[in-house]
Amino acid sequence: MEITWLGHSGIKLQGSKIVYIDPFLTGNPAASTTPEEITEADIVVVTHYHGDHLGDSFTICKKTGAILFGIHEIAVEAEAEGLTAEGMNIGGTVEAKGVKVHMVQALHSAEKGNPAGVVIEMDGQTIYHAGDTGLTYDMKLIGEFFKPDLSFIPIGDRYTMGVPSAARAVEFIQTKRVIPVHYNTFPIVSADPEEFKRLVADKAEVIILNPGDSYTL
Ligand code: NI
Ligand code: MN
Repeated sequence: MEITWLGHSGIKLQGSKIVYIDPFLTGNPAASTTPEEITEADIVVVTHYHGDHLGDSFTICKKTGAILFGIHEIAVEAEAEGLTAEGMNIGGTVEAKGVKVHMVQALHSAEKGNPAGVVIEMDGQTIYHAGDTGLTYDMKLIGEFFKPDLSFIPIGDRYTMGVPSAARAVEFIQTKRVIPVHYNTFPIVSADPEEFKRLVADKAEVIILNPGDSYTL
C-alpha cells in the first residue's frame, strides 16, 4: 500500500482501493496537491467537522463518485448535497468496497456532530488516524483492540497533542509505525518531528514525511 501525506492531516492510501482521509487542500499552505488534480477515489473519510479536516471532501466525492464516510451529521449534510455517504458514529464499523472503517474516540470539538478518530482496514493492514485529539487513556484500548500497523498522530500542539503528549500516545497505542501529522501547516501549529522521533525511537518506527512524500507499507 502506498501512503502519501497531502499536508496537515490529509492522507491518501493507495492499495486495492484509493482512500483519502481529511483532504484539506484548498487554503492549505502545505498542500501537496489540489482537488483539480484528484481524478480517482473510492472512499473519503472525514474525522470531524472542522474546515482543516472536512476540507475538499465533498468536492472530491462529487467529482469521483467516492463514498464519504463520516459521523452521522456530516453524512446527512453530504447526502443533502447529493453525495453517497456512510454515516456512522463512535464505536461503529462500516465496510464498503472491501474497506472497513471503525470510528473511535477523539477528545476535541467539532462544528457539527462529534470529533472522531478512525481505524481503517484495507489489504490486511490496520491503519489508525487519530484525527484531532488530546492525549487520552482510550488510546490504550484502541491499541489493544486494533493493534495498528501504522498510525497518524497529530503533534502540532494548541488544538491537539503536542510532541511530549503525542510521544506518550504512541506508547499507549503500541503502533508498529507512526507518521506525525497536523504540524507546521501554519506557524501556530509548529512542532519538531525530529524531537518526536527521538522521544519514541524505542517504541515505534517513526516515518517523517514532507507533504507529497509517500511511504510503502
Ligand atoms: Ni479540529
Ligand atoms: Mn485540525
